[in-house]
Amino acid sequence: MADLQATARAHTNIALIKYWGKKDKNLILPMNGSISLTLDKFYTDTTVEYSPSLKKDHFFLNGQNKNDQKLAKFMDIVRQKTGFNSYASINSINHVPTAAGLASSASAYAALSLAATTAANKHYTKTELSRLARRGSGSATRSIFGGFVEWIEGQDDESSYAKPLRVNTDWDIRMIAIVVDSKPKKVSSRSGMQTVVATSPFYKGWVSTANKDLNDIKEALSKNDFQSFGQIAENNSLKMHALNLSATPHFNYFEPESLIAMRVVENLREKKVNCYYTMDAGPNVKVICKNNDLNVILDELCHYFPSDHLLVAAPGPGVKLLDN
Ligand code: ADP
Ligand code: DP6
Ligand code: CO
Repeated sequence: MADLQATARAHTNIALIKYWGKKDKNLILPMNGSISLTLDKFYTDTTVEYSPSLKKDHFFLNGQNKNDQKLAKFMDIVRQKTGFNSYASINSINHVPTAAGLASSASAYAALSLAATTAANKHYTKTELSRLARRGSGSATRSIFGGFVEWIEGQDDESSYAKPLRVNTDWDIRMIAIVVDSKPKKVSSRSGMQTVVATSPFYKGWVSTANKDLNDIKEALSKNDFQSFGQIAENNSLKMHALNLSATPHFNYFEPESLIAMRVVENLREKKVNCYYTMDAGPNVKVICKNNDLNVILDELCHYFPSDHLLVAAPGPGVKLLDN
């Protein structure tokens, strides 16, 4: 018998072409493909230990006992897939703010997928893990892999998974996360995108342009064209936030400091510093830049934000097991 326990680490990822809407809520199939960068700075460590004596799953997040329906449902999917029917004790530590738009659900479900299947003595390929992680949180599909990653939209469970993008850029890319507010958001990603799909009059426009954005950004990557790459990412992000503004009821993730951060980046561009921003379902802005320009950008941002709120991330690795 295996020892029924495993610990995995997965890193968060930030989308450059966003996933913002499901065509199948149960399978978590996205309305469009997406592209992301996995980050070294932010990650989740999760230990899963099955015990035949447990009557339900027990979940601890950062040491606190939580009742989490999403997690319980996900563990049922794991049990169905592995055929291993015990409940588990799950201990997870987020080295990233939880539910603040820094993609904790991505690292969380990627780490849980590897830990929960390994503890059940199943050893899946990364593609299989990517499909499984998708059932917990869409963005987790991509956190199975490191670096630049594409989530292929797909039409069913089998065909919707992520794969690493082999790119040959000379950018040495960085993302500066400007932490404006690390508290949990009021509108979760799940409910925000659902409201948008159901009510935004602009949603058709999103879907019909998302795949072009995706192809264009891949072309920019393959041509080593950082300027186009950044511009496409920034534009795609703002389009996503425009959907939120146009939903009923409308909502948004902007704080005054988020707008300041965007303006600083735009002003830097006017001074010919190559940088762009992207924002997810939370007020924290991420600045995309080359390592060469990092210090100039940080020096400017320091005038507006405390320096310990400026967190620099580089490309990070895919999911892996840790020694227990
Ligand atoms: P984020 O921007 O952080 O991804 P989401 O709204 O997408 O925010 O997801 C936040 C939710 O993800 C939490 O409410 C919780 O349900 C889940 N989550 C976050 N971290 C963990 C974790 N380490 N283990 C399990 N679930 C987690
Ligand atoms: C704005 O993957 O967190 O970060 O699938 O409902 O769990 P669920 O949502 P989630 O949504 C992420 C939205 C985003 C864009 C992205 O990561 O592509
Ligand atoms: Co999320």
